[in-house]
Amino acid sequence: MGEKVRWGIIGLGNIARNFVKDLALVGEAQIYGAASRNLAKAKEFVLEHNISNAFGSYRELLECKEVDVVYIATPHIFHCELSIMAMEHGKHVLCEKPMGINREEVKKIIAAAQKNKVFLMEALWSRFNPSIMKVKQLIEDGEIGPLAYLHADFAFYALDRDLKGRVLNPELAGGSLLDIGIYPIFLAYLLLGKPDRILSTSNFQDNGTEVQTSMIFKYVRAQAILYSGFTSRSEMKAEISGESGSIYLPTRWHEAQGYILERNGEKEEFSLPTTGRGYFYEINEVHHCLKLGQLESNIWSHNNSLDLISLIDSVRSQNEIVFPFEE
Ligand SMILES: NC(=O)c1ccc[n+]([C@@H]2O[C@H](COP(=O)([O-])OP(=O)(O)OC[C@H]3O[C@@H](n4cnc5c(N)ncnc54)[C@H](OP(=O)(O)O)[C@@H]3O)[C@@H](O)[C@H]2O)c1
Repeated sequence: MGEKVRWGIIGLGNIARNFVKDLALVGEAQIYGAASRNLAKAKEFVLEHNISNAFGSYRELLECKEVDVVYIATPHIFHCELSIMAMEHGKHVLCEKPMGINREEVKKIIAAAQKNKVFLMEALWSRFNPSIMKVKQLIEDGEIGPLAYLHADFAFYALDRDLKGRVLNPELAGGSLLDIGIYPIFLAYLLLGKPDRILSTSNFQDNGTEVQTSMIFKYVRAQAILYSGFTSRSEMKAEISGESGSIYLPTRWHEAQGYILERNGEKEEFSLPTTGRGYFYEINEVHHCLKLGQLESNIWSHNNSLDLISLIDSVRSQNEIVFPFEE
């Protein structure tokens, strides 16, 4: 690998469009090429984002020797196959969330990273958000005492979307839980760890897609109340309460631009604006790990991804959230 880290982008949808804008802000990054299933679309994308090479298939990009690391931004159900294919071609991988649709897939992906000795990370960008990094530190330093209560949600109205699109289509592992429920689950896991018990309930739409899920994560001395939904918007503020204070992450908490610390009845507001949209920080982490020759991140490790998907699996099994291709 030269001085620049050469990136390839796979799957040119909404998130890829936002991600490459942040990638362009990282000095050490070179966006080598972008791959779509459709060459005309890839050409349009590279023109718009000032990228040198367009590929009309994902495989062509993976066969290209000039690419060091690929960013996989397809619907969830293709993450496993494409991550493994990329790693078999010797590429490092940053794969969109969820890394796989269940624990079995995530285990397979991690095994492929270990076999091919390449770097692999789930693009859980909120883990690297400066406010969330700071909040984790404050809690570890005991600034609000032992945690007792956490509330986090993620919701927007999506029932008017295309039933064939990835958000509502069960064939593409659609539904709120894997798409956005992953964020509140992540926050509880990050700050409280794995719960002793999960209580949850889901609602479904006619085509079988889960569109609303409420969860309680029970810990010995704490409870987390979590929610994801496509049936209405929610405020998307997070509240984290300890025995001697509280922290609030303002809306939208998963991409927070600051936080509020409340102690002894006094509130202090801290501003921590992100560079770009916030994907900047996970990209820097990939570069940092590649520079050190690390095959996984210490901040969002393979085990973290496995734990996260295992929690999602538990909620899925409680509510019989099964995709047609799993039946
Ligand atoms: N981190 C974040 O903030 C964030 C935000 C949104 C989504 N995501 C994650 O990113 C992934 C992609 O989400 P998105 O919103 O970008 O999705 P999207 O707009 O639907 O784009 C996904 C892209 O995947 C490719 N693709 C390959 N096979 C496909 C198929 N059978 N049907 C549809 N698309 C297919 C397409 O690219 P080509 O046509 O170019 O091949 C498509 O443009 C999801 O896993 C999601 O969870 C992350």
